[in-house]
Amino acid sequence: MIKINENYLKLQASYLFSDIAKRVSAFQKEHPETKVIKLGIGDVTRGLPPACVKAFHKAVDEMAEDTSFRGYGPEQGYDFLRSAIAENDFRARDAEIADDEIFVSDGAKCDTANIQELFDTDITVAIPDPVYPVYLDTNVMAGRTGAYADGRFEGIVYLEATRDNGFVPRLPQQKVDLIYLCFPNNPTGSTISRDELKTWVDYARHNKALILFDAAYEAFIGDAALPKSIFEVEGAREVAIEFRSFSKSAGFTGTRCAYTVVPKECRAFDARGNSHNLHSLWNRRHCTKFNGVSYPVQRAAEAVYSDEGKVQTAELISYYLENAELICTEIEKLGYSYDGGRNSPYIWVDGQRDSWSFFDMLLEKAGVVCTPGAGFGTCGEGYIRISAFNSYENVAEAMSRIARQLK
Ligand code: MLT
Repeated sequence: MIKINENYLKLQASYLFSDIAKRVSAFQKEHPETKVIKLGIGDVTRGLPPACVKAFHKAVDEMAEDTSFRGYGPEQGYDFLRSAIAENDFRARDAEIADDEIFVSDGAKCDTANIQELFDTDITVAIPDPVYPVYLDTNVMAGRTGAYADGRFEGIVYLEATRDNGFVPRLPQQKVDLIYLCFPNNPTGSTISRDELKTWVDYARHNKALILFDAAYEAFIGDAALPKSIFEVEGAREVAIEFRSFSKSAGFTGTRCAYTVVPKECRAFDARGNSHNLHSLWNRRHCTKFNGVSYPVQRAAEAVYSDEGKVQTAELISYYLENAELICTEIEKLGYSYDGGRNSPYIWVDGQRDSWSFFDMLLEKAGVVCTPGAGFGTCGEGYIRISAFNSYENVAEAMSRIARQLK
């Protein structure tokens, strides 16, 4: 008899964003006349930067000729891209990262989901609340939790992010082994200072723990005082892995390219307390389960670091940040309090009511899609997340429709 992994039965019925997509498509079927404006899932809407498109085309042409064709590439990514990433995203900011510590992949979602395979089922995992659901669901799938009750899984240490702590969780009171952090935060849009991040690095060093740092939204940081990478913090190379993506920074959500940084000092321990190098383990996993990102996509990603690519991606980011500013201004005028939207594309609005009913009201009455905060965890109840990824015109239209409903 074929048996299932019963941990899957503990999961909530469907993945948050699939659930929302289903509700939206049901609404749209019933109301085909409504032009629904999507400020829900953080999916970019503007075309790829021209420098990336040019590099993409050129690489496709290379693939057409026997003399320049490429078959399987290195699983970890081509040297040209690994080197451009390490130089521009890290060494230029005094974060010492070597080219071969970069592992190119098809998404930060996949990487943050897959990385937990390297660790024992028996470890204690600390996960923020609210949180990007992938971190939690993948630990549930792996059997690191008990049952789900009252909005939480037994066995997880929840790191609460609330208005009281400025949506930056405090260090756990107990000893934990694996810590997920995401800054600029999804969903709250909060950021972390270098000093605060240092307290997490110190905690991890002291407790022989590991931090999984999701920096998928770092491109939105405009404030020079804020760290873009955990590797800007002293001591982090030993205790942190960082995830980055071209999805939001260069519009690659449909093109797929991301990377994970695993420093060679980064370690975890066996049952006897012997230290093991996570770089080798991740490399082993990557080579076994992944065949690399396609050559044209990696050439397109490399172009992000060209002179024109830098200008064009900066323009994309400031476009979405202008949308975020407009959302903040309109929300403020309506008298609601919010967080995020400054160094982040997400605005976390205190809706002063149940978040799914707020979601339904905005969809049904205004034809606007947001993301209900409760979908990100218990501490998200009462909030909604508004994403700045859409055209300025659509954001302006969405905000005036929202204003008509809430005034
Ligand atoms: C989000 O809306 O939280 C993200 O776009 C989802 C993702 O990146 O997978």
